[in-house]
Amino acid sequence: MSSYTVIGCGYVGSYAAANLKYQGHYLTGTTRSSERFSELRHVVNEPLSLDISDATSDFTFLEDQSGLLVSVAPSQNGDNYQAVFSEGIKNLARALRLRQSNHSLHVIYISSAGVYGDQKGKSVTEISDVDRSNPINKMLINAENVMLSIDRPDTQVCVLRLGGIYGPGRDMVSMIKQAAGEQIPKNGNDVPAWSGIFDITYGVSFAFNNQLSGVYNLVDDMQASRRELSNQICDIEGLPPVIWANVNTPGSRSMNAKVSNQKIKSAGFKLSSPSMLMPLAV
Ligand SMILES: NC(=O)c1ccc[n+]([C@@H]2O[C@H](COP(=O)([O-])OP(=O)(O)OC[C@H]3O[C@@H](n4cnc5c(N)ncnc54)[C@H](OP(=O)(O)O)[C@@H]3O)[C@@H](O)[C@H]2O)c1
Repeated sequence: MSSYTVIGCGYVGSYAAANLKYQGHYLTGTTRSSERFSELRHVVNEPLSLDISDATSDFTFLEDQSGLLVSVAPSQNGDNYQAVFSEGIKNLARALRLRQSNHSLHVIYISSAGVYGDQKGKSVTEISDVDRSNPINKMLINAENVMLSIDRPDTQVCVLRLGGIYGPGRDMVSMIKQAAGEQIPKNGNDVPAWSGIFDITYGVSFAFNNQLSGVYNLVDDMQASRRELSNQICDIEGLPPVIWANVNTPGSRSMNAKVSNQKIKSAGFKLSSPSMLMPLAV
């Protein structure tokens, strides 16, 4: 039985951990909260307290791991992007570089397709330019690069860029229906990317099982603008359309790109949810 750890057992991390455990791996899952620690006993074999933003954290658990999934984001009051994606990822990468053991380790780092930023709705792939003009995107890109530059022959690193996540408890279709007839101050012309939680979960296992390294977009097939998507949903339901803005709020972090998932598909990955509308279409 090989040992895997999930750092950050939030929405994505918990689903992925449960699936990896189901596949027969011994799972350690981390949290910073004592309340979550007790809940994690039902998800993983071994909960662990870990704060990657704390430079004094004990990372010795990494020594005997075969797989590591990193799925962190600011999630508690007082968390911020700088602490998680800048200091935290640097601390983790340092610990990975300084590992004593030469046990081979496969690291999957969850990132965001938001890093493409506003590409005016153009198609983008993993080799397209990313957006460094927005400070959050710049931080996310730096975090990816910190992880990708852990230069050890025994350590393989894969970055999975996700779109907006939908799934149980994050029902985007219902949220859009609730917004029918309402004014929403987001640009309706922008094309976001989306990822279903089950495809994220299977994609993580696929990346581990197929030894993927480098950057992969793990997004579904939908490449519609917010307005096209909401119109489709509201039309099916006989609801009035959502009234989106036609411009971005100044200074907002916009994402407007048709994000290609061809690279991971070419590696053999098959989506189970090509779009959040599939359940509506049946
Ligand atoms: N949500 C989206 O639509 C979306 C879109 C694109 C990409 N992503 C990416 O997907 C990943 C997972 O998102 P999610 O929705 O599953 O997030 P989530 O539910 O908020 O979970 C984030 C996890 O990060 C952990 N965390 C935060 N700061 C930490 C620290 N300093 N040390 C250790 N762990 C820390 C939290 O653990 P505790 O609080 O339990 O300690 C929490 O479990 C993130 O990388 C996010 O950027 C999300």
